[in-house]
Amino acid sequence: MRILAIETSCDETAVCVIEADGSQGSDFRFQVLGNALLSQVATHAPYGGVFPNLARREHEKNLVPIMSEALQEAGLLSPGASPIEGVEAILARETELFSQLQVFLSQYKKPEIDVIAVTHGPGLEPALWVGVNFARALATAWQLPIVPVNHMEGHLILSALCGQNEKYQVSGIRYQVNSKIQFPLLALLISGGHTELILSREWMRYELIGQTRDDAVGEAFDKVARLMGLPYPGGPEIDRLAQQARLSSSNDGFTKSVTLPRPMIDTNDYDFSFSGLKTAVRRLVEAHQPLSDSMKMLIAREFEDACADVLVAKTMKAVEEFGVQSVAVGGGVSANEEIRNRLAQALKDYGSDAKLLIPPRDLATDNALMIALAGYFRAMQNPSDGGFAEPNSIRANGNLKLV
Ligand code: KG4
Ligand code: ZN
Repeated sequence: MRILAIETSCDETAVCVIEADGSQGSDFRFQVLGNALLSQVATHAPYGGVFPNLARREHEKNLVPIMSEALQEAGLLSPGASPIEGVEAILARETELFSQLQVFLSQYKKPEIDVIAVTHGPGLEPALWVGVNFARALATAWQLPIVPVNHMEGHLILSALCGQNEKYQVSGIRYQVNSKIQFPLLALLISGGHTELILSREWMRYELIGQTRDDAVGEAFDKVARLMGLPYPGGPEIDRLAQQARLSSSNDGFTKSVTLPRPMIDTNDYDFSFSGLKTAVRRLVEAHQPLSDSMKMLIAREFEDACADVLVAKTMKAVEEFGVQSVAVGGGVSANEEIRNRLAQALKDYGSDAKLLIPPRDLATDNALMIALAGYFRAMQNPSDGGFAEPNSIRANGNLKLV
């Protein structure tokens, strides 16, 4: 099955084309035929965060060029024309996207793909709608089925399948992935909008066992970075500063004076809380004005340690309680070096033979490969006689839940 996947839930415009076959547990394989991604980080950075309507306009501008790039790489662009009936009505609000798509459809034939997969939530609703309407327009022009994909399931499935191959490079290789996943699988999903522990006792069935009660961990990284005057997005900046702090031998004697709480670390549940940690950082920042570079490094390290401590503690508690065999970690924060190392070390120290599945750093953050993979497995669950969702019934839902 050939899938064209579209991701626009936040500030990445991404399109990926894969060819996949087989089923999980036996002979699943896939090949990335084309993959293109445009990050809007530079556009949003001056504002210190993602502006939904700005993201929406950028997706509108970039979707056709990014899709063309992915299809070109896949060798699936052939001169000709595709029908355009009904497309204008679907893109009535996305006029710029419509103008570009109209030109594109007048130049190229329907590519050889079988299904369109699109993220329909969770995320920023205005941004999600652009992707959903784009998918509906393409499905109408090319008479293809659409599979709506939950973004968090995308992170989870990508980690579960590709989390073992550190030397992963995206395009052009045929992958034999971790098809024989051992269950129960525990997924730790850590991103800008989510912090969740999900238990999966069988493929694509989920139980939510814990989640944050306030801020998501990625949101805390971004807010703490902002408090320290670091650029957006804050996660990678804190990661870099904390690593510098660990490497640097002379640290101004501040080491002992910087301590932050480990919220909810000992509670008898799987929930998290990060907003108190952020407030504690605010107090620390206020008490040490003007912040020296070494103080920034120390705070970054202590903040990262505090996050890692609670994430590791709750993950290991669940590993023990549920006899977990695989731990899949996904979402942008799983790019964090310290969190990756600490989870690996904790599983080793515990003597668990549970496998740690974390994707390489560049696939930890948002991309369209994860949507293509989840889309494939969702499509496989649909009856082959066209039991797909009616394109016009697919809606963006900013608060879509996995469980
Ligand atoms: O999954 P993702 O790309 O988008 C969402 O679905 O939210 O996650 C983005 C989040 C941001 O909060 C960003 O600061 C964080 O992931 N992030 C990191 C790192 N790279 C990205 N956090 C900590 N360390 C990193 N290296
Ligand atoms: Zn994400």
